[in-house]
Amino acid sequence: MTTRFLPTHWRDYALLDAGHGKRLERFGEVTVVRPDPFALWPTAGDPRAWKQADATFEPTGRNHGKWRTAPGTPKRWPIRYRSEALDLAFELEMTQFKHVGLFPEQADNWEFIATNLQEGDKFLNLFAYTGGASLAARQVGADVIHCDAIRQVVDWTRKNMERSGLDGIRWVVEDALKFARREAKRGNTYQGIVLDPPTWGLGPKGEKWKLEDQLLDLIDVVASLLAPGGFVVMNTYSGIPPSALETMWALALPGASIQSGELCLRTELGHDLSTGSLVRVQRH
Ligand SMILES: C[S@@+](CC[C@H](N)C(=O)[O-])C[C@H]1O[C@@H](n2cnc3c(N)ncnc32)[C@H](O)[C@@H]1O
Repeated sequence: MTTRFLPTHWRDYALLDAGHGKRLERFGEVTVVRPDPFALWPTAGDPRAWKQADATFEPTGRNHGKWRTAPGTPKRWPIRYRSEALDLAFELEMTQFKHVGLFPEQADNWEFIATNLQEGDKFLNLFAYTGGASLAARQVGADVIHCDAIRQVVDWTRKNMERSGLDGIRWVVEDALKFARREAKRGNTYQGIVLDPPTWGLGPKGEKWKLEDQLLDLIDVVASLLAPGGFVVMNTYSGIPPSALETMWALALPGASIQSGELCLRTELGHDLSTGSLVRVQRH
């Protein structure tokens, strides 16, 4: 069986059901239906639950769409993640890109980060979005740099940091590859680095990010930023298989320990929905 990385501590989130190209999820008090290309099987749960969802995302183009909401559904609402190591608070919002400001499967990475960092360690989050990994690292006392191209997304994370009772994260609104290269030139290194590069994207000055063209450069520069004994967590939602990620990292960091597999969410009926490929690299 392929290795599956699954979050196990969520109480405020649940993947209630998946199938027919969609998922039915509960984020806090709000249930949502969103398209999912890997929910390839028939739905198995109660069909009424799907009909009663508070919000349904309806695509209008390849990467965007509209939300149809039931009366009284909030535009913004809170969610909390609690485990032995972490207590994080986020505000969610329905975006035109189908996301709500949180990738719940990432909680398994948050636990990995919390377990593998110590107070005062340096941690870098590239392509950081609303910052679950940054908050997890900060909560265990790491010095955190959070880099994303979009200022509004960084402002959203800042609010999540404050909601979580944290402070002191350093914000970088910049093209992730450019920033990583600059850090390498300065000779900076990190005990933990997380990166979640999208298939395509734009830096704040219009720098084009295209995964297939820049991935090897990114891996090389990130490998050079990793301190001895440090770790990298890299995942991608772009369809690159875990074995390919593993090979690229084995070449970039010979001798490192590498785990790879699929980052998944499990439905209440026990079906695993793959959300992307994941690699965890530990440098000796
Ligand atoms: C898939 S999301 C990352 C999700 C994140 N792992 C999480 O758990 O919240 C990709 C992020 O990359 C950012 N991004 C896209 N192109 C970028 C670039 N060239 N430099 C920096 N960030 C970029 C987007 O703004 C977006 O927030």
